[in-house]
Amino acid sequence: MSQLMHYIKQLKNGRLQDKLAQLGWIYQYAKQHIFHIAIYTLLGLSTTVISLISSLVSRDLVDIITGHNTGELLITFATMIGIALGSSVISQISSYLSNKISLKIDNHIKAQIFDDILITDWESLTRYHSGDLLVRWSGDVSTISSGILNTLPNLIIYIFRFFSALIMVLYYDASFAVFALISIPISIYTSRTTMKKIQQGNMSSLTTSTRMSTFNQETFSNIQTVKAFDMLSLYSRRLRMLQQQYTDVRMKYQRTTIINTFILTIVSMIVSYSAYGWGIYKVWSGQISYGTMTMFLSLSTTLSASVDNLISFVPSTIHLANSAKRLMGIVNLPKEDYSQKKQVAQFFDDNKDIGVGLSIRNVAYTYATGTEVFEQASFDAHPHEVIALVGPSGEGKTTMLRVLLSIIRPKEGAGYICAGNGTPESGAPHVDLTASSRQLFAYVPQGNTMFSGTIADNMRNVKENATDEEIIDALKMACAWDFVEKLPEGIYSEIKERGGGFSEGQAQRLSIARALLRRSPILLLDEATSALDMVTERKVLQNIMADKYPRTTIVTTHRPSVLNICKRVYSIGGKQCVLLNEQEINELIKGY
Ligand SMILES: Nc1ncnc2c1ncn2[C@@H]1O[C@H](COP(=O)(O)OP(=O)(O)O)[C@@H](O)[C@H]1O
Ligand SMILES: [Mg+2]
Repeated sequence: MSQLMHYIKQLKNGRLQDKLAQLGWIYQYAKQHIFHIAIYTLLGLSTTVISLISSLVSRDLVDIITGHNTGELLITFATMIGIALGSSVISQISSYLSNKISLKIDNHIKAQIFDDILITDWESLTRYHSGDLLVRWSGDVSTISSGILNTLPNLIIYIFRFFSALIMVLYYDASFAVFALISIPISIYTSRTTMKKIQQGNMSSLTTSTRMSTFNQETFSNIQTVKAFDMLSLYSRRLRMLQQQYTDVRMKYQRTTIINTFILTIVSMIVSYSAYGWGIYKVWSGQISYGTMTMFLSLSTTLSASVDNLISFVPSTIHLANSAKRLMGIVNLPKEDYSQKKQVAQFFDDNKDIGVGLSIRNVAYTYATGTEVFEQASFDAHPHEVIALVGPSGEGKTTMLRVLLSIIRPKEGAGYICAGNGTPESGAPHVDLTASSRQLFAYVPQGNTMFSGTIADNMRNVKENATDEEIIDALKMACAWDFVEKLPEGIYSEIKERGGGFSEGQAQRLSIARALLRRSPILLLDEATSALDMVTERKVLQNIMADKYPRTTIVTTHRPSVLNICKRVYSIGGKQCVLLNEQEINELIKGY
């Protein structure tokens, strides 16, 4: 009764409901592999059947040897060996297949979650540390994929094993069954109290291991800063502290499971010795043969082992549900809208010759952290124009480019891509800014955003089938060819992680070349020439301007040299975009 109340309370708290939802989430992946899981289950079941037959045959063998029975010793012996060989073959096949199936399931889930992460809303996703994402994507998915392969089939296999052994015991001598069954309530009772601790222990061990991975990832990728500020001993101490925390959590968890296992072992020892005693008594009083006794002993081992296995499903199911919870946290984040891809492509195709521009209308945006960046921002940019967004650091230039790229969505107001020099108000054909409209953009982000790989790899990331000539042309336009040309391997030279191996100005020029290679109708440059000298900067911008392609260019900048060539300059500040007149621009230039 109190047990019943306990479950009702759990249901009310929603804990059990949560667990069920988490297992249901796993099931949607599992059901796609039902066929493989069924094969794996069948193989497991056949091993059980073989082991049951083998306990029958070994009974006969013992009985023949002890003279209790007459029979063909050689044939029985040969059968015995045949069965042993057969079961070993099946178990090898089973382990080969289980590896194969588990890899398949693992890859499948990882690929799906990878895709989910890619289309997840950027701001929601950046609430998670990239190291945390990595641990969830690799560790938690592996827990789930091995769980899918093991939990369901093994549950079926152990239940089958338990009942088939039980039926055989009942058939030959029901009194032995008492020993097997008596251990069940005891085992369940003793395990019950440790389950909650196991649940908590597993969750905190996952959290601590994530903390350690994110720490390592940051240390290794910022090793230069760690060295430069002479933080070696600090970081070395920090790692040890994290390791200590992890060890504490793991050992606490280990103690819980050790106590649990120890109690279970004692219970099963008492049970099996009693069964042994009972067997000896029965043989001694002539009720059963030696052979039957060996059979019973092996069956009772099977029985208590399957009970232990079934009980151990509870903690492993808890682990599964915990990992599912961590993954659901990511997978259920809001997604971007890619539904307009075809319409946008069609819209651009219709307006290829005149180009497309941008109209931003009364945009308001506040980051989830509460920083309000825009209240009522509006501006226009048309093909063949360079538009500048200027303003002090931290006023929202990069944020505006994120709005244009739909990496963030305005809370109020909207952005449009319009045909030619038109605006939405003038009735020009237009499409909304969405994730789908990114195909019309090329972007030179602030900072070094080159990937590891060759220069050519980086360029082909944005245009898969670009020829060497096209790549070299783009590099020339971005004034990058003069230094790339001198590299021993030219465009096939390696770039290290995060653009390593190149100066900041060089990386910027590579990044500009990458954007130009894409030949998009809209080009966004986020302080993209900040690390270039004046002469190179002017040359790059002149090259972009000289291109006859109908391109709308938006730059964020401080540099007066850039402002001179801009069609319009908007000042970003006070949560607005304000159009500056010539006098204001001149004052701005003088102010440098
Ligand atoms: N990912 C973010 N989450 C929360 N706040 C942000 C984020 N990025 C920028 N901000 C805040 O938004 C404001 C504008 O930043 P940003 O657009 O990067 O400025 P700018 O490019 O003009 O230097 C700043 O106050 C900054 O702190
Ligand atoms: Mg910025």
